[in-house]
Amino acid sequence: MVKICCIGAGYVGGPTMAVIALKCPDIEVAVVDISVGRINAWNSDQLPIYEPGLDEVVKQCRGKNLFFSTDVEKHVSEADIVFVSVNTPTKTQGLGAGKAADLTYWESAARMIADVSKSDKIVVEKSTVPVKTAEAIEKILTHNSKGINFQILSNPEFLAEGTAIQDLFNPDRVLIGGRETPGGQKAIQALRDVYAHWVPVDRIICTNLWSAELSKLAANAFLAQRISSVNAMSALCEATGADVTEVSHAVGKDTRIGPKFLNASVGFGGSCFQKDILNLVYICECNGLPEVANYWKQVIKVNDYQKTRFVNRVVSSMFNTVSGKKIAILGFAFKKDTGDTRETPAIDVCKGLLGDKAHLSIYDPQVSGEQIQRDLAMKKFDWDHPIHLQPLSPTSVKQVSVVWDAYTATKDAHGVCILTEWDEFKSLDYKKIYDNMQKPAFVFDGRNVVDAEKLREIGFIVYSIGKPLDAWLKDMPAVA
Ligand code: NAI
Repeated sequence: MVKICCIGAGYVGGPTMAVIALKCPDIEVAVVDISVGRINAWNSDQLPIYEPGLDEVVKQCRGKNLFFSTDVEKHVSEADIVFVSVNTPTKTQGLGAGKAADLTYWESAARMIADVSKSDKIVVEKSTVPVKTAEAIEKILTHNSKGINFQILSNPEFLAEGTAIQDLFNPDRVLIGGRETPGGQKAIQALRDVYAHWVPVDRIICTNLWSAELSKLAANAFLAQRISSVNAMSALCEATGADVTEVSHAVGKDTRIGPKFLNASVGFGGSCFQKDILNLVYICECNGLPEVANYWKQVIKVNDYQKTRFVNRVVSSMFNTVSGKKIAILGFAFKKDTGDTRETPAIDVCKGLLGDKAHLSIYDPQVSGEQIQRDLAMKKFDWDHPIHLQPLSPTSVKQVSVVWDAYTATKDAHGVCILTEWDEFKSLDYKKIYDNMQKPAFVFDGRNVVDAEKLREIGFIVYSIGKPLDAWLKDMPAVA
């Protein structure tokens, strides 16, 4: 029986391995992690991450051919194929700080693989890594190998949180990069055989190592660029009276462009886009390509601008001050159908409003108060380290309360900011919310989920990103 071990039981390692176990009953899959809490959660009824459809997949295979364990060394030493899906944070110190990928966790995983291995192994990069990481990993493994043969493959993951199971069941493509040697090609074939259990072979793309590594960074850069492009347009729409939804619909009808990822919003978030673009920028700079670096940097700058613009809209609409005012925040996760808050735009929007001394009452259907407090207190990039290395008890932010429903959050509030597109925010009883708020009552829709006209009929002053402005907002400056 082929044995697979995955190091890192996170948002990628957990769901990916669960689906491999489900689709390949002839393969034994072990997912290992240094975080005891995370592994205990994977072995319980309360999985550590929220992902539609994940519970059922895990329930079907756990204990049969899917195992979660903290015994990293045992499972690595027994495996034929070792996936590495550990964190690859942005460096906060030293050379490349604020941009380059921190490969500390990757390197320690590679050293451990070399230490405990007694048989030949295929080592698969699942984490998103800078181009040429495989070369470094190969060096670490071969210099410590005691004669064991390691083949390195790059197999970046393209799943999106919120639709991870769907994406894994039916991927647009699976990408496998390897060395162009007979050994490298044999390793590619072995991994291809795993995916071929359920993925049509014409969707399994095989390339050289560097193309595979770079394709993942490029894909995320292109996706984020689409969001920044439409967000840049949204600012122009507000200034001119155009409607960004109409513009993106018209633009997206062009088959060369397509309709996906063209929704204007308060900004993109998630653990990957910013990190991977910063990484790409750093690689461009290191390769003497400052123009290319600046081009991609702008995608992040527009994203930051969009968040700042949103905060400024809120403050300037409310008589230029939110000091002491209660503001309800609906949604904190970086998108709907996930509890993930890494790099969520809600963090910067909340910090911006807190900077103007607002009192925030936050509700998200999937995010705990503890997580929100942690996010608001944490330093930039600290979130992307294993939980046991994060600050233990960051001081909680006093002007923030976290509640468990939208009506409590909005009661007596002056304004409501919608920061995640959860479906339930579309069908709230906005009349009831209006009646219980201070007047004038404001709604700032950062995801264009509400029917602005209906809300205006109720009496709200409404700001929708990229839409013709409410008369109230017309003379208020949106940019500091
Ligand atoms: P995560 O933070 O959820 O999981 C990483 C896990 O690795 C943590 O549980 C941590 O404790 C563990 N870990 C770190 N060092 C370890 C070691 N030496 N031994 C054992 N376990 C160790 O991260 P996530 O989101 O799963 O991302 C992993 C990689 O996949 C990153 O490179 C990310 O860029 C990439 N990726 C993430 C996607 C996403 O949607 N989250 C999508 C595609 C790629």
